[in-house]
Amino acid sequence: MSHVSEIMESMEYGPSVEDSSAVRDWLARQGTFGHFIGGTFTEPDTTFETRDPATGEVLARVSQGTQADIEAAVAAARQAQGPWAALSGSERARYLYALARHVQKRERFLSVLESLDNGKPIREARDIDVPLVARHFYHHAGWAELRDSQFPGLTPLGVCGQIIPWNFPLLMLAWKVAPALAAGNTVVLKPAEYTPLTALAFAQICQEVGLPAGVVNIVTGDGATGAALVQAPVDKIAFTGSTEVGRGIAQALAGTGRRLTLELGGKSPFVVMEDADLDAAVEGVVDSIWFNQGQVCCAGSRILVAEAVADRFEALLSFRMSRMRVGPPLDKSTDVGAIVDPVQKDRILSICRAATEAGAELVGGQAQEGCFIAPGYLKNIAPANPGMEQEIFGPIATLSTFRTADEAVELANNTRYGLAASVWSESATVATDLAARIKAGVVWINSANLFDAAAPFGGYRESGYGREGGRSGMLDYLAEALISARPEEALQRVSATPSGDAPAPQGIDRTAKLYIGGAQKRPDGGGNYAVPGGVAPLGNRKDIRNAVEAAAKAGKWAAMGGHARAQVLFYIAENLSARAAEFAARTSRAEVEAAIGRCFHYAAWADKFDGANVQAKPGHLVNVIPEPLGVIGIACPNAQPLAGFLSLVLPAIAMGNAVVAIPAQNDPLAVTDLYQVFDTSDLPAGVVNIVTGARDELAVPLAAHEEVAAMWYCGTSDGLAAVDRAAAGNLKPVWAPAARDWTGPDAQGETFLRHATRQKTIWLPYGALPAGSGSAAY
Ligand code: NAI
Repeated sequence: MSHVSEIMESMEYGPSVEDSSAVRDWLARQGTFGHFIGGTFTEPDTTFETRDPATGEVLARVSQGTQADIEAAVAAARQAQGPWAALSGSERARYLYALARHVQKRERFLSVLESLDNGKPIREARDIDVPLVARHFYHHAGWAELRDSQFPGLTPLGVCGQIIPWNFPLLMLAWKVAPALAAGNTVVLKPAEYTPLTALAFAQICQEVGLPAGVVNIVTGDGATGAALVQAPVDKIAFTGSTEVGRGIAQALAGTGRRLTLELGGKSPFVVMEDADLDAAVEGVVDSIWFNQGQVCCAGSRILVAEAVADRFEALLSFRMSRMRVGPPLDKSTDVGAIVDPVQKDRILSICRAATEAGAELVGGQAQEGCFIAPGYLKNIAPANPGMEQEIFGPIATLSTFRTADEAVELANNTRYGLAASVWSESATVATDLAARIKAGVVWINSANLFDAAAPFGGYRESGYGREGGRSGMLDYLAEALISARPEEALQRVSATPSGDAPAPQGIDRTAKLYIGGAQKRPDGGGNYAVPGGVAPLGNRKDIRNAVEAAAKAGKWAAMGGHARAQVLFYIAENLSARAAEFAARTSRAEVEAAIGRCFHYAAWADKFDGANVQAKPGHLVNVIPEPLGVIGIACPNAQPLAGFLSLVLPAIAMGNAVVAIPAQNDPLAVTDLYQVFDTSDLPAGVVNIVTGARDELAVPLAAHEEVAAMWYCGTSDGLAAVDRAAAGNLKPVWAPAARDWTGPDAQGETFLRHATRQKTIWLPYGALPAGSGSAAY
């Protein structure tokens, strides 16, 4: 036995292993697990092992879900959904509260089980994951209570399929199950094959609290089980996992009109400015990428440090790294636990090998016996090095330098992902400037990896779409209930007539042109097509490319601010009203009235769609800011061409986006004349671009274009399938607003604004210093 004085000398820790006997007894009692379907566990059939990655020991056998299992689970969920949705909000709230309480009562059990199955340090499971799981159920008990008053006119989606990864098994379950249930949906959840055990323990908690049978169903299995769930008749898929699988799911759902949210990979920047508190930033690296074996989608895996402080920062970083304790996950003094599986360990090591072969230098990061890798970082690494581009998903960061804030932003945004960012500077001006310019769904200022049920989480670009947490997370589990639904008009054939040669019936408008970059343009091929009342230009792919290019240059519109944009929209209303009779002759009085109404509506919203300041953790100010997406592609409805066009284009531009719109194929002339209204209303060039022609032929290249951030499509399910497939390539969200009366009240409102924006969640320290730590004594 060492003396205290000796321990003080060496600062060594003795082992302090959490007792796992209760969990092991439970596992021994269970033996082999079936699926949890319709409130009971099925008899196991084909099974596979789940192991403790730290020791390789088999913990349990679980069932491999088949298509039949998925079908049974979806049927149980379907049957349960009506009665579940028919409960009052308060009744649903009580069930969610009971789930929260039971999770809390079993915090120790669940933490140990999670640590055993996943390999993460018990400190992470106990201090972060499981308390957040309880927090999610409490928070959403609140949303269940408030659903009807806070989300009027919205209804649950139905049955939701949820597929989750292995890095936060129980926490991801809570992120997905709690909002779905609060909104009135039922779920079929598939946990990751490496880490199914806490989901099965949660199924038992559902039984204990008497959750109605079929409200939560859990089917275990691998990717094939997940793929069967994607194919099943569910109303939504919520997926967290790799970008590659997410892209495949988006393609598999093409044309189904089912809702999809994706939370995918990341390669998040961790930016350390010259004036940062370097010790705090080093602790940020520990929290962000080392403490959890780097198995976090939002880990700050690309450390970018100001050149002026780079040497000092690296000295502090490598010293701190040398003190990290890699070891048994259940030991309370372990910092870095086991990698989830040998396959994942090999993957991490092979990316590190490729990185060093391409010239980078690896500091630390040694592979150890079993599923362990010591923390490390890659330095002297070029931007195109595989270690810089690929998500390593292990405890290995990259370290590179920059000279100016502009360069830091450029490097931070030089990735196909956009999940999160961590920014370190003692200057509020510098830190918030970076937060505004970095393209990521979550930005932590002088902090890293903070999560809360009230704070929306989700990505930009190839990190996916949709948000989990808070009000926006709830909205992703609710649907509009349309009172004025009506079928879309069938398309008439488009056949080209050469420009200038078209026979000119009486009264024809021969001047109709495309509207690109604030100017009228002839279509690239020069052709026209016959439409009621004249001929319209027949645009092609090249016109779409030109229009997107013009839209991408209209960035200053976003920077103008809501008030300035509102003035332009009011002005459009005034100018449209001055020409009301002329537009009514092309369409109808009702359409023109609706069009003017839309201008007023979105002028009103332009400076009022505010975002929120949410109640997350004390000591932080958490702002949720709606940002424009950039360029939105819009394929407009065929019916009610003027009202349909403006009902979609105006909310998009009110929020600061630029649009490329394809007006009603059958009757585009009601819209081509709008260019005069836009010009006289001081709408900047490129904010609205109009390309007429065959809707579906234009919509596909528009949806596929890299510069287009989101696509809205009104049309047929075949057309939607083609658009979905084109958009899945670079993972952009597609919204297919249901056909409705475009002159009616259903054709405006916050739903449109929500689709026109994406949220950035910014965490700022706020009142976080302990009393007496201020610098001034007075
Ligand atoms: P994965 O994306 O293959 O697995 C995630 C979940 O999807 C699991 O439940 C899996 O069974 C399921 N799945 C797999 N193929 C499917 C398919 N075709 N259809 C439906 N569901 C399917 O991730 P994996 O292989 O476990 O990890 C590979 C890489 O993915 C990691 O190295 C990391 O880069 C990334 N990843 C990202 C995560 C995140 O939180 N964003 C979490 C886990 C992994």
